Amino acid sequence: MDYDHYDRVRAVQWRGDHLYLLDQRLLPAEERWIECRDTAQVTTAIRDLAVRGAPAIGIAAAWGVAMAAQQQAPLDDALAMLRAARPTAVNLMWALDRMKKRIAAGADAEALLREAQAIQDGDLAANRRMGELGAGLITPGSGVLTHCNTGSLATAGFGTALGVIRAGVAAERIVRVYAGETRPWLQGARLTMWELVRDGIPAQLIADSTASHLMKSGAVQWVIVGADRIAANGDVANKIGTYQLAIAAKYHGVKFMVVAPSSTIDMATATGEEIEIELRDATELLGVAGRRTVVEGAQAWNPVFDVTPAELIDAIVTERGVIERPSVLAMQAMFGS
Ligand code: MRU
Repeated sequence: MDYDHYDRVRAVQWRGDHLYLLDQRLLPAEERWIECRDTAQVTTAIRDLAVRGAPAIGIAAAWGVAMAAQQQAPLDDALAMLRAARPTAVNLMWALDRMKKRIAAGADAEALLREAQAIQDGDLAANRRMGELGAGLITPGSGVLTHCNTGSLATAGFGTALGVIRAGVAAERIVRVYAGETRPWLQGARLTMWELVRDGIPAQLIADSTASHLMKSGAVQWVIVGADRIAANGDVANKIGTYQLAIAAKYHGVKFMVVAPSSTIDMATATGEEIEIELRDATELLGVAGRRTVVEGAQAWNPVFDVTPAELIDAIVTERGVIERPSVLAMQAMFGS
């Protein structure tokens, strides 16, 4: 299928000696690019969400290591600094481990730049493949609900869950798209809607609290989300709010699809219980778009991911294939132990 009509954004770009990032904190109000010229700046961009989305932060980190090599900076320090930037998305650790392996094998800066490029190219190819596989599961004429932003902004391009939506719309299998706004950081409202509007894909934004009501209406047949880490038993860590969508989907007979490249699979983590959930500053929740909306003195609890148990998931779509009703055995059969 020809997807050139869709997916024209490339938010993570290597420019020969620096990393050029579309600042996702400012979208859609402003399309401002930032230049990261050392590993510390890449680390800050990941930690402060200028670049976000599990695959995209892995790609940015890989370029951060290659940049350190180019500048003859200490590579162990670069690896450690980047690894500590965010805890939940395993793509970050996966990309750094790939770079570390090449360093251990004696790779020079040129070889590390090629490895970072391979990680980026591999992600785009995986997304295109997952788009086809995921769309193939959807009955023509269906409606879907997605959460957070899993599109070109969150990946090397095309996206994971949003890639399936792009492919499903192109194949006319998906005819209604809904996106949850994804409080508190509004990845759905600010980023997913921006991508969909740019692609000319009709979609409707809903408040996160509208999801059950939407499912009850019969307008959606699938919830389609990405993942930040998938444990060996198929439990899925993803953006906060994913778990309650899976519960509501089960109740309403709506199917639940998780779309993630194999770089998101963590067979070393037995279950979702073991996944570290990132806690971010309460101020993200105490205001909207940087403006305080809650009375001074109020406190807030701001975990930014949750874990959806495997039993609530109908399909995990990866570039290696689809796992229906995930289990330890099915995961091992596809990813080894
Ligand atoms: O905090 P974020 O915006 O980095 O969280 C992103 C998500 O939870 C996405 O759903 C996930 O990384 C998959 S992106 C292809």
